[in-house]
Amino acid sequence: MKERIKILLLGKGGRESALARKILESPRTERLYMAPAAIEGAEAVAVDPLNFQGVADAVEKLEIDMVVPVGAAPIVAGITDWLEETGVKVIAPSEACARLEGSKEFAKEFMADNAIPTARFMTVTSDTLEEGLSFLDSLRPPYVLKADGLAMGKGVLIINSLADAKDTLTDMIEGMFDEASETVLIEEYIDGRECTVTLAVDGEDWLMLPVAHDYKRNLSGNIGPNTPGMGSVSPVSFVDADFMDKVKKRVIRPTLRGLKEAQLDYRGFLYLGLMELDGEPVLVEYNVRLGDPETQAILPRIKGDFVDILEGIADRTVGLKKIQFYPIACAAVVLTAEGFPGTVRRGDIVTGILEAEAEGCKVYPGQLSYDDNGKIYTDGGRVLTVTATAPTMAEAAAKATSGASAIVFDGAYFRDDIGRDVEEDAAI
Ligand code: AMP
Ligand code: GLY
Repeated sequence: MKERIKILLLGKGGRESALARKILESPRTERLYMAPAAIEGAEAVAVDPLNFQGVADAVEKLEIDMVVPVGAAPIVAGITDWLEETGVKVIAPSEACARLEGSKEFAKEFMADNAIPTARFMTVTSDTLEEGLSFLDSLRPPYVLKADGLAMGKGVLIINSLADAKDTLTDMIEGMFDEASETVLIEEYIDGRECTVTLAVDGEDWLMLPVAHDYKRNLSGNIGPNTPGMGSVSPVSFVDADFMDKVKKRVIRPTLRGLKEAQLDYRGFLYLGLMELDGEPVLVEYNVRLGDPETQAILPRIKGDFVDILEGIADRTVGLKKIQFYPIACAAVVLTAEGFPGTVRRGDIVTGILEAEAEGCKVYPGQLSYDDNGKIYTDGGRVLTVTATAPTMAEAAAKATSGASAIVFDGAYFRDDIGRDVEEDAAI
């Protein structure tokens, strides 16, 4: 094992910034590179994470020891397999394993084969549209329609009326999300409370990171369209030891056993999107990566050297690692640009980051750009994440919300209820 290593992190966003800060805290990090853009303390490499040859060239030229692909797109497209030949350590699962996120149909069949509790579903293509429409008749509202493939976090629709659901199913099959919705899943609606469990998996053993909750609805009060995430908290008030025992028994162990039986050597982070329904876990989805914005609320709670855990994933030594959490609450509030979650306006000047930090918050850059004079501009939907930690969730939430209000740009929006709908603090 090398004492100090050079790491290349792929991706740009609040989650990537939070991970980069954690990596920079490690005494093991000799140098951190980020592509396509870097935060302070790291060096930018101008390569698109989907340009695998470009990434491989950078690995060779910069003598990188470890690559951490963070977003779903390069992982699902097989970057891990591609880089394997270079001998570099890659902290993400193979293309075959990444079907757990890349194809919702594959994931649901995997859950069914391994008796993992999940919502009742049916898979529909243009050949089976009529059966799909009849299946909708058999369900109660609201209706859940999911594009099979990756659709930039927009492929899940929850629809109240049967007539709208039928029209939308037809539109999806006819190309509403291009190839991603050639196959659509219709799912029974689960009226439960959501939480995210994230595992570091090394093919054999696993470690659990702190549990988080993601606020998916766009607007305060938990209304509006679903988004990839407007904020997150950790810990989660309703998650107790009894629920986590059930998650381990009914979801985690059958998942890892199922992967082995299918000869899928899973090494990387595994995200379990769960619902709690009458005290029981129901698995809604797998992601083959860290969540955004869950990561921004999870990492500040982890004690010790995260690079050591990353290395454990690649070296199959996760079982030897210890993970400890600070017994504190963390709330993460996402600021979004004008137009989000639809087409957003770019180029609005952003100010107030230092003011938010002066209030004791951490501000993680998301979709931002900079000019040569140090001015900062919006450059996408989720512009920044403001996080705060405190002994209780009420204090963390108040601090993060106040920090978010200190940040100013035209069209800025954030939910002012992140962490504020929580009744009590739990320990997990
Ligand atoms: P997914 O990409 O499958 O996680 O879906 C995105 C979000 O849609 C989830 O985090 C839930 O908030 C919601 N959702 C997905 N499936 C269901 C379901 N069967 N019942 C209720 N809500 C769901
Ligand atoms: N916050 C949801 C996700 O990362 O998929």
